[in-house]
Amino acid sequence: MNIKELTLDRESLAAAIASEDSTFERELRDLAYRTKVETIGPEVYLRGLIEISNICVKNCLYCGIRRDIRCSRYELSEEEVLATAQIAAMRRFGSIVIQGGERTDQAFISKITRLIRAIKNIEPAVEGDPPLGITLSLGEQKKEVYEEWFDAGAHRYLLRIESTNPDLFHRIHPNDPLHSYDRRLRALYVLKETGFQAGTGAMIGMPFQTAEDMADDLLFYKEFDAPMIGMGPYNPHPETPLTLQGAPYPSAERRFALGLKMIALLRLLMPDINIAAATALEVLDPRGREKGILSGANVFMPNITPVNQMVKYNLYDRKTLLGDGALSFNPETGIIIGYGQWGDSKHAVK
Ligand code: 5AD
Ligand code: SF4
Repeated sequence: MNIKELTLDRESLAAAIASEDSTFERELRDLAYRTKVETIGPEVYLRGLIEISNICVKNCLYCGIRRDIRCSRYELSEEEVLATAQIAAMRRFGSIVIQGGERTDQAFISKITRLIRAIKNIEPAVEGDPPLGITLSLGEQKKEVYEEWFDAGAHRYLLRIESTNPDLFHRIHPNDPLHSYDRRLRALYVLKETGFQAGTGAMIGMPFQTAEDMADDLLFYKEFDAPMIGMGPYNPHPETPLTLQGAPYPSAERRFALGLKMIALLRLLMPDINIAAATALEVLDPRGREKGILSGANVFMPNITPVNQMVKYNLYDRKTLLGDGALSFNPETGIIIGYGQWGDSKHAVK
């Protein structure tokens, strides 16, 4: 594949995704990085990631904290979440993401609402900095719940579609009404209606997933007009049904290359949105997230969950990943960290 032939229609995207030509892949990443710097500048925004709980009502076939897996469950107390958010404020991260397994019980919903209000009242470390921006990633909820959390002060919400091919979606989820493609899609539109900057994303390099599926994922992000995308390589967890079923998936090396390539293609397709360099990249390469940024991503999510609990948030095998992946970019890259700001995408601000 030649970079000059790339046109960003479905066929061309699928061909780019299927290509294993390493020269093409490098040229594509470089072009995407240049596009990122020219469109939105050299800065990378931070989101302090707080994994609030690994308790989940859902049973996704690929996930290491699915309902039916036996693992040690935890839930951070309100004091722990607040203390962690305070650290993010002190380090001038600008914003945080509260992520966790999906829960719809009233106690949990009210806890999140109280936390959002309390976090919004944390004094910024430097006068003139805004209060911490809050992104939520807590799954499918009723419209009223989304409204309650938005009114409390959260302003961005991440809900991955996981795959925009309904057949594939249903192959990687149990066959019941709780796990429905239509329901997921509706939730995304409800988030938008509520006023959230609604972000989404899909896994990359899953069993049964084709290059066309991945091209469609990219085209969906554009059609949905997503201001932010968080997508990352599929990393098999040894005890999940999807792994145990034994269906083939690309090698770790291919999934990593695909992860970077999807970031690069999306940057060309949507030059002014926020694209996260996902944690799942770091599992496959120690400098994975830096490489994600050099392929066009502009958001980095240091994990600030207290370490004794972080070890239990095992969506997939990531034992090697403790601590916040330190904010140590190679100085030669010219990457600048945007401290003390929410870092909304230019696209959303428009
Ligand atoms: N590999 C990669 N990503 C995964 N997630 C869950 N399980 C896996 C896995 N095995 C991702 C899903 C979910 C997010 C919280 O974690 O995309 O949206
Ligand atoms: Fe729960 Fe999310 Fe894992 Fe699905 S992917 S089981 S919703 S934590």
